[in-house]
Parts: sequence; C-alpha cells; structure tokens
Amino acid sequence: MAGNSFGTLFRVSTFGESHGPALGCVVDGCPAGIPLSVDDIRRDLRRRRPGHSPGSTTRQEGDEPEILSGVYEGKTLGTPIAILIRNRDQHSGDYEGLKDLYRPGHADWTWELKYGLRDPRGGGRSSGRETAGRVAAGAIARTFLARDGIVIQAWTASIGGIHAPVPGEEGFSLTEAEQNSLRVPGKKAAERIEALLGDLQKAEDSAGGLVSCRISGLPPGLGEPVFDKLSAILGRAILSIGACKGIQFGAGFAAAGSTGSAHNDTPVRGTGRPRAATGEAGPLLPGEAAVSPGPPDLSFKTNNAGGTLGGISTGMDVEFQAAFKPVASISRIQRTVDRYGAEQELSVPGRHDVCIVPRVVPVVEAMAALVLADLALRHRAAKV
Ligand SMILES: Cc1cc2nc3c(=O)[nH]c(=O)nc-3n(C[C@H](O)[C@H](O)[C@H](O)COP(=O)(O)O)c2cc1C
Repeated sequence: MAGNSFGTLFRVSTFGESHGPALGCVVDGCPAGIPLSVDDIRRDLRRRRPGHSPGSTTRQEGDEPEILSGVYEGKTLGTPIAILIRNRDQHSGDYEGLKDLYRPGHADWTWELKYGLRDPRGGGRSSGRETAGRVAAGAIARTFLARDGIVIQAWTASIGGIHAPVPGEEGFSLTEAEQNSLRVPGKKAAERIEALLGDLQKAEDSAGGLVSCRISGLPPGLGEPVFDKLSAILGRAILSIGACKGIQFGAGFAAAGSTGSAHNDTPVRGTGRPRAATGEAGPLLPGEAAVSPGPPDLSFKTNNAGGTLGGISTGMDVEFQAAFKPVASISRIQRTVDRYGAEQELSVPGRHDVCIVPRVVPVVEAMAALVLADLALRHRAAKV
C-alpha cells in the first residue's frame, strides 16, 4: 500500500494499526539544531488522546512517545526522527464479531475489496488512532515554525448543528477553548453541546461538526503555484484526516454567492512588520520610493481570501474550516451485509466517541504544521 508519506522536503511517514504493538512516524528532512524534547511531543499527543471530553470514548490510550532517533542532547540532528507510540489498553476481542461484517459508514468493505484482507481490530489502519503518528510529527513541525513566530490554533466551531461564537463575536474566547475538553471557544455553547452529546450517547447515536483553524504570524510568500498552492496542499492534508468531508478557506463557499466588489479584499500599504519570507526591506515609510526589486509591503482591509492569493500566503492569517461527519461506529442497531452477501443487523461494540471533533482539533493543527514546515523549506529555493 502506497500513500503513507506526506511532504516534499519536510517529509513524514506514519505507520501502525490500531491494535498492533505500536504506531508512530518517521520525519525525514527536519533541519538540524532545533531544540526538541519528548515533552514537546507529549503535549500535543495528550490533546488528541480520548477520554477527556463528554461523549469521548473511555479507551485509555497512554500515548507515551519514545524518540528513537534524530535527536541528540535536546536538539535535532538533521537525521530521520523516528517516534514510537506503543499501543496499550486495546480490547481486540470487541471486534471478534465484526470480522465478517461491513460497518456502515466505515472503511471495512472498500479496504477488503481493494486489498483482499484487512485488520478488523479497531479498524486497523483506517482507525482514528492512526492520527497519533501525525500529531507526533506535527509537534516537531510546530517547534520548527514557532522559531519564526508562526502559531497554529484550531478549535471546535460547531457540533451537531450547535455553533460556537465566531472570532469577534461576544463570548468568543480561545482561552476558553483550551480550558474546556470540547475545545469550544464559548462557555454557553460548550454547555449546550455537552447536553446534546449526553442525549446522543443515551440514544446510541453520534454527531459531526466543524473545526476552525487560524494560522497567524505567517509571512507572505509561502506556497508553490501551480499544483502545490498553499490552499491545495492544506486541502489535501486536512481531507486526508478520517471522517473529513470538506474544507473552506476565508469566506469559503459563501464566496460563490457574493460579488467581486463585496468579496475582494482591499490592499493597504504596510504591514508593520519585516518581510520575513523574502528577507527584503520592511514596509515603506511615507514618501519613500519603492526600492527595486519587489513590490511594497501590503496588508488587506478584510480577509475573505483566507490568507492566500494565487496559492501564496498574503501575510494575513490563514483561516479555514473543515467539516467532519458523525462517527460511523454507533451501538444503535443498523442494517448491513456480511462478506458472504447475507443481510445482517449489527450493533458496533467497543468504546467509541459520540463525536470526534474535539479530538480532531490537534490533528488539524498537526497537519497544518506539516504543510507549513514543508512549504517554509521549499520557499528557500524560490529565488536568488
Ligand atoms: C481522531 C479520530 C478518531 C476517530 N474515531 C472513530 C471512532 O471511534 N469510530 C469511528 O467509526 N470512526 C472514527 N474515526 C473516523 C474514521 O477513522 C473514518 O470515518 C473511517 O476511517 C472512514 O473514513 P472516511 O470517513 O474518511 O471515509 C476517527 C477519526 C479520527 C481522526
């Protein structure tokens, strides 16, 4: 099976199945000299771990990372960084009855059709547990990006149709999002969502939702037109997360119903910060002539574009939102077909999340970090 690696210069490969002995990642291309500790990785893995939010599975995934290579005396060596996360608390027996059944909404039938066999225990490699390797790799990318002041923050924007406040709206607080286990940036919305998840749990059902992400401190200039536009690679990265059904940037799909005069972001002179991506001079002073080469520094009155133009970062925050479907594994009775073609009823046993959205938040951040670390390195080859 191909397709387990991502990135060009900052390249990650993940490995492992949900109920195998371990999973993890190998990061190849991380520059030497970056301070990195196991705590940097542990911090992000803890945010992905289940058992922290209402409606979250009771599985106790220890998620203790081990750095096997690529780090010496607290700094990256420039050699491949291998991280191992051993699986513990697996209840493989829960999946014995599912060996011959195709779970509705899950990857069982398509995997078996394609490969002729599959590991049914916990969903094998199509399990959400696979994302632990991504989060570990993302933590390394984040450390690299933080040196340039690039900060990536995602949060739960809605669950089951209940929306959290949006940035600028009363009650919106990212501090609050990090304090409640649902990662909702608003106390009242968090309480309503918690009640909904409790009801769904009793009804043996599940919910989907939206994750918003904001990348700030990003210099203008990142992204490689034509096929490797910033938005295109971010789209691919986020859509590769299990259960993701869509992504929109800035004003998003609403742009389709807008007009050019309303949607265009008006450029204004100056950004108030040095042009870090190009290493050229900072903003022009009043009356100062533009120094060749290069256009003046700009920012924009609005950010309907979501921080990219022509696939290149504008220096405004990159903002996107991703949609995740309701969890497929529900204990409510559903109809399906078994591998012998007989119609069957099933109730998916095991310990599942009622909603995975809060756990997806750090995965979205990790994938965004991997994209940006790769594009930041590739940017250095843009011009002399
Ligand atoms: C962090 C995370 C946890 C997940 N947990 C579950 C789960 O407990 N039960 C489930 O049915 N799907 C879960 N999923 C989603 C499945 O992995 C996904 O729906 C499945 O592989 C089918 O792929 P698709 O929905 O992208 O088509 C999880 C996904 C993520 C990212």
